[in-house]
Amino acid sequence: MSDPICILGIETSCDETAAAVLRRAPDGSVTILGETVHSQIDEHAPYGGVVPEIAARAHADIADSVIAKTLQDSQTELADLDGIAATSGPGLIGGVMVGMMTGKALALAADKPFIPINHLEGHALSPRLADPCPFPYLLLLVSGGHCQFISVSGLGQYQRLGSTIDDAAGEAFDKLAKTLGIGFPGGPAVERLAMNGDAKRFPLPRPLLNRPGLDMSFAGLKTAAARIVEAEDLDTQGVADLCASYQASIAESLSEKTRRALLEFQAGDPGETRLVVAGGVAANQSIRSALNAVAEAAGATLIAPPLRHCTDNAAMIALAGAERFAAGLVDDTGLAFSARPRWPLDEARAKADPAYGGGKHGAKA
Ligand code: KG4
Ligand code: ZN
Repeated sequence: MSDPICILGIETSCDETAAAVLRRAPDGSVTILGETVHSQIDEHAPYGGVVPEIAARAHADIADSVIAKTLQDSQTELADLDGIAATSGPGLIGGVMVGMMTGKALALAADKPFIPINHLEGHALSPRLADPCPFPYLLLLVSGGHCQFISVSGLGQYQRLGSTIDDAAGEAFDKLAKTLGIGFPGGPAVERLAMNGDAKRFPLPRPLLNRPGLDMSFAGLKTAAARIVEAEDLDTQGVADLCASYQASIAESLSEKTRRALLEFQAGDPGETRLVVAGGVAANQSIRSALNAVAEAAGATLIAPPLRHCTDNAAMIALAGAERFAAGLVDDTGLAFSARPRWPLDEARAKADPAYGGGKHGAKA
C-alpha cells in the first residue's frame, strides 16, 4: 500500500480566492487539513455581477496571504506536499492566470509537481470530499457559470449528457435580481423573497421542456421576467410573486430535465443510481426538494455536498489533484500547461456538438 498524498489546492476562476490542504489516504478517504475561501462579493455587488478585471486584481492582491494562512492552519510546510494543484481553466482568464501562476511559482520554488486542474473536474469530484460516492454517478452541475448533466464514470471519464444552450441557472437568478435591484448574488435574494410569493401568479415560460433531450435554456425566462418588470408597477407582493414564479420555472425545468437524464443514465447503468447535485444553485431549498422528489421516483439517491463544497472552493481542486496523483497521472509537464478560458470536461462531445458558444475560441462549456 502506498502512502497518503498531501496536496495544496488553489482556486481563483471566478470571485472566490481559495486555498486548501488535503490528505488522501490510500483507501480514498480524505482529510481536509485546512481551507480558506475569501469571497469578493462585496467588491462586485455594486455592479450586480462579477467584473472580470476587479476579480483578477483582487485575486492578485490576496492569493499569497490566503495560501500562507491555509498552510499555517493546516500545519503544513511546502516541503510536506506531494504536489500543488490549481484551477487552470475554465473561468475568467485573469483570475485563472493569477492562481495558476502562483501555483506554478510555488511548485518551482519547492521542487514539487504542478498539477493543472479543470475547475469542472473539481466540481465533478466534490461529493467525494465527504462521502465515498463511488463511480459511476450522474452529476447535475448548476452554478453561476455552468449548467450541465455529466455522467461521471471514473477519474477523467466524463460524458456530457446535456447542457444549457445559453445562460446558466445561477446566472438567470442573478439577472432577475439585478433587474429587480434586490442584491447580488441573486439566488439567495430571489429565494428569500419567493418564500412569501405566489408561484402561480406569473405564467413564465419553461424553455425546451416540450422538446426531447437534455439541453436547457434560461435566457427566454430572463427576458419574459424583464418584460413584466417593465410593464407592471410591481409592489412588494408583486416582486415576491415574480420571484416565486421565476424560481418555480427554474425548478421545474431542472427537475424535468433531471428526470430524463436519470432515465438515460439508468439505461446505460442499471445498478444503484447516485444523483449528485453541485454548484451554488444547489443551495436553493425548493430546487433541492424538487430534485429529491425526482431522484426518489427514479429509485436514485440524491447526494448534495455540504454547501461550502457545493460552491467554489479549493478543497475540490486539491482532491482532483490528489486523485490524479494517486492514479499516476501527474508528471513533470504541469509547469508548461497554458491556462484555458474554455476547457470542456467532455472535449469530444463539445467539439462534435457545442451546446453554445462554439465560435472561433472553441466550445465554451
Ligand atoms: O458555484 P458558485 O458559487 O459559483 C460559480 O458560479 O461557479 O455559484 C454561484 C451561483 C450564483 O449565480 C448564485 O446566484 C447562485 O449560485 N446561488 C443560488 C442560491 N445560492 C447561490 N441560486 C439559487 N438559490 C440559492 N439559494
Ligand atoms: Zn464553480
